[in-house]
Amino acid sequence: MDRFVDQLRVRSEPRPLREPTERERLRTAFSRFPTGVCVVAFEAEGGPRGITVNSFTSVSFDPPLLLVSIQRSASSHDLLLDRPFSVNVLGSSQEDVAWHFAGRPNASPVWIEGAETPRLAGVLAWFECTPWAHYDGGDHTLVLGEIQSFSSRRGDPLGFNGSRFTEISETVLGREHLI
Ligand SMILES: Cc1cc2nc3c(=O)[nH]c(=O)nc-3n(C[C@H](O)[C@H](O)[C@H](O)COP(=O)(O)O)c2cc1C
Repeated sequence: MDRFVDQLRVRSEPRPLREPTERERLRTAFSRFPTGVCVVAFEAEGGPRGITVNSFTSVSFDPPLLLVSIQRSASSHDLLLDRPFSVNVLGSSQEDVAWHFAGRPNASPVWIEGAETPRLAGVLAWFECTPWAHYDGGDHTLVLGEIQSFSSRRGDPLGFNGSRFTEISETVLGREHLI
C-alpha cells in the first residue's frame, strides 16, 4: 500500500519537461511585479482598435505625460505610433475586455467617441493623449503621450500578478490619508 502511495506521489508530482529558457526565466521574474491592466485604444484603418497592456506608467505632471511599452511584433505597433490614443484602466469586472484586446476576441467592447480618440466604457480611469515622443526599447517601443483630458472613478482595479489576472481591492478608506 505504501509503495502504491509512493508511486502515485511520484507520478502526480509535476516535473518540468525541460529547463526553462533564459527568456522564460526573465518573463517569470518580471511577472513577480504586480500591475494593473489597461487597454490602449486608437483609431486606425477606419475603426477603433485596442491592445491590452500592463506596461502603463505615469511619467510627468508638467507637462502631463504617460508611457506605454508596445511590442514591435504587435499589429498595433506601427498603427499606434504618431496617432492620438487613449489609455483605459480596467476594473476587476473587465477581464473579458482584457482578453478581447489580447488576441482572444469575445463580446464586443462598448466604445465611446472621445475628443481625440476612441475610448472604452465602464473603465476606472481614462486618459486621452496626443503623441509626445517614442523611444527605442529593444523589441518594444516606449510610447509617450501628452494627456489632453482624463477622468477616474472609484472601484476595484483588474490586476495582473504571476501571469494571472487578479482583483486588486480598492485602497481602504482612510489609509491614503496617512501618506
Ligand atoms: C495582461 C496583459 C498585459 C500585456 N501587456 C502588454 C504590453 O505592455 N505591451 C505589449 O505590447 N503587449 C502586451 N500584451 C500583449 C498584447 O495584448 C497582445 O500581444 C495582443 O494580442 C497584441 O495585439 P495586436 O497584435 O492586435 O496589436 C499584454 C497582454 C496581457 C494579457
